[in-house]
Amino acid sequence: MTNEELQNRPIGIFDSGVGGLTVVAEIFKLLPGENIVYFGDVGRTPYGGRSKDIITQFTRQDISFLLEHRVKFIIAACNSASAVALETVQKEFDIGMLGVIEPGARAALNYTKNNRIGIIGTIATIGSDSYVRAIHTHNNKVKVFSLACPLFVPLVEEGYIEKEATYLIANDYLKTLKDVDIDTLVLGCTHYPLLKNVLKEVMGPKVRLVDSAEETACEIAAVLSVRNLIRPAGGDVTHKFYVSDVPDKFTQVAQQFLGRSIGNLTRVDITRY
Ligand code: DGL
Repeated sequence: MTNEELQNRPIGIFDSGVGGLTVVAEIFKLLPGENIVYFGDVGRTPYGGRSKDIITQFTRQDISFLLEHRVKFIIAACNSASAVALETVQKEFDIGMLGVIEPGARAALNYTKNNRIGIIGTIATIGSDSYVRAIHTHNNKVKVFSLACPLFVPLVEEGYIEKEATYLIANDYLKTLKDVDIDTLVLGCTHYPLLKNVLKEVMGPKVRLVDSAEETACEIAAVLSVRNLIRPAGGDVTHKFYVSDVPDKFTQVAQQFLGRSIGNLTRVDITRY
């Protein structure tokens, strides 16, 4: 296969549902020449409250589906899957994969001045301690304060972005993090970048927010560049979106995440994989 043929292959991106589109949106900006195949497991979302075994089994199926599309690289655009399953599945599949934890952890380390970092995410992500480990691998002097915020995902899914209820819940969840003098807060869940304004206001101007979607897009650009796999911008691009259940809700919420409507949406039976 020529290198051009390899470059033309799509990037495969999966998430437990719609949230991974925050990563897709960043890739559109940073790598406009790339073809993308996205799988959102909306039929089995959320992953964030499930066990490691189940999330790993779902992740295997998501990857097997993307491989059928002859993707050149896979992004686990789901913090929960990245946190509990990526290490296992990376050993099982012969394809380059990137999750969202390491880019987010590295960015937080670059930003912090006082070595006090907060992490918010789903129960699975926070319970796995994967952000803490990723941070401590680089610098074990950093103090990490982790907090699960399970209500944020349904709030975003229901379009409760800057409502009073969202501020109330955010204030309540984050009060412990406000007392521990962090200067950096990692948004360790695909949905949280949509709550940036609320989180900024609640945490105050001294706390820098790390958007793992943005950081992951930067990292994928670097990884593909090193492998000479970037597809140059300028030609036609194809973006295909697949979901594991009725696409109506996905189409509505997707617009919010992506900032534009999506075409090419197909339902698949993910249990076949
Ligand atoms: N995509 C998930 C994550 O980033 C959030 C939704 C879920 O719990 O499945 O952790």
